[in-house]
Amino acid sequence: MNPLKHVAIIMDGNGRWGIKHHNSRNKGHEAGLATVEAAIKVALEKNIRYLTLFAFSTENWKRPKTEVNFLFKLLESFLKKKIEEFNKNQIKLKIIGEKKFDKKLNKLLNVCEKKTKNNLKLQINLALNYGSKKEIINAIKILNKKGTKINKKNLSNALYTSDSPDPDLLIRTGNTKRLSNFLLWQLSYSEIFFSKKLWPEFKTKDFLNVISQYKRIKRNFGKI
Ligand code: FPP
Repeated sequence: MNPLKHVAIIMDGNGRWGIKHHNSRNKGHEAGLATVEAAIKVALEKNIRYLTLFAFSTENWKRPKTEVNFLFKLLESFLKKKIEEFNKNQIKLKIIGEKKFDKKLNKLLNVCEKKTKNNLKLQINLALNYGSKKEIINAIKILNKKGTKINKKNLSNALYTSDSPDPDLLIRTGNTKRLSNFLLWQLSYSEIFFSKKLWPEFKTKDFLNVISQYKRIKRNFGKI
């Protein structure tokens, strides 16, 4: 049985779910939030140490302003509501990506990171304004500036995810098979599961089912 330390998720399909059921993409994001909560619960119960969630990409700024604003309002109210519960459950929140939002949101993100920084049961890496190519270029610039040798270890240590091991498992919902500029370096040897379900439809049992399939895979890491 494979150990499972780190799960990364591309939570795709909110918009389509919202249009289908309520003629509103934003209703889909709202419903997607319930799946985020369920996934966190599974991570806690299954002793998964790191959960990386792709919530907003560097490309998502191209969406209508109303949708972008809605997503950040949703994030703000989610964090305000959940932060004490995160502490109670020993959850550390870390933002990966460029924290370049309005002053109020930046401050809230910093406060949440600071308040939860010593928690050790589960680390949630929340990818916000995240783009993997940008992350890798930034890492190379950091190494160059310090005159540090460019090798695998040093580059990994200069990424936003420096304090997490590479994901064992990537799940993408929404019936689309692509990586969308997510963790391109870190996913080199991850097992990848694509679900046809839209993110708001991806229930606890679906997550548990992926985990049990993952556990039975023979992972070779290039060996035989
Ligand atoms: C992708 O689905 C989803 C997003 C860009 C946003 C993810 C946000 C959530 C799951 C809810 C908020 C989360 C937090 C942590 C506050 P899509 O909109 O691209 O779906 P589509 O492919 O059907 O258009």
